[in-house]
Amino acid sequence: MKRNKSISLFSKKKEQIIELKIILLGDPGVGKTNIINRYLYDKFDQSSKPTLGSSFGEKILKKDGSSYSLKIWDTTGQERYNSITKLFIKGSHIVILVYSIDNLASFDNLKNWYNYVKEELQREKFILAIVGNKRDLFENEVVSDNEGKEFAKSLGALFYLVSAKSDQEGIQKLFTSLLDELILKYGNKALNETSIRLDEDESSKKNKKCC
Ligand code: GTP
Repeated sequence: MKRNKSISLFSKKKEQIIELKIILLGDPGVGKTNIINRYLYDKFDQSSKPTLGSSFGEKILKKDGSSYSLKIWDTTGQERYNSITKLFIKGSHIVILVYSIDNLASFDNLKNWYNYVKEELQREKFILAIVGNKRDLFENEVVSDNEGKEFAKSLGALFYLVSAKSDQEGIQKLFTSLLDELILKYGNKALNETSIRLDEDESSKKNKKCC
């Protein structure tokens, strides 16, 4: 039977999606996995296990007629500054350095995480955010809001305080505000040019192990 060629006239034009890579880094236990899970699935796990390796989850956001695929990478804080984590940093559009407000070492170590990221992304377009997580534990706070803010300012980074446990809205705002800042800083055209292309291997890992 002959194929009806005219059918292609009615096929929809493929929607263009700008693919963005977001990576969360920081010491073990600061809440990277739970921040991602709260954002993607509105879930929180009080006894989550340390992340093994790295994995990503995805969310599509629409804004002013454009679509953005946020590919959010979770990394393990266990093997600090190792060469494997470095591979995952490459090509990131948004880097989120996380500390926990009740853990001074996790805050102090952000300097090392920052140097590590800078080394890898020297020539790339990206924005940086410092995120203080676990704000629900304010009674055990050892890093003040001001210290977090000042540190972010010294790096030219954005600053957010969140709680993956109890502030779903704050976590949503974190990601939408970072996307807004990214678009404002670089514009869709530049972002489209640097839009990531995940290879087969990476795509197949999607959502399998995330978080
Ligand atoms: P690694 O995978 O080891 O690098 O850790 P991680 O940074 O991904 O931390 P994870 O999300 O696994 O959270 C570690 C612990 O902190 C878990 O027991 C979580 O339940 C807890 N946790 C995460 N976020 C919060 C939060 O906002 N508030 C409170 N109270 N606990 C949190």
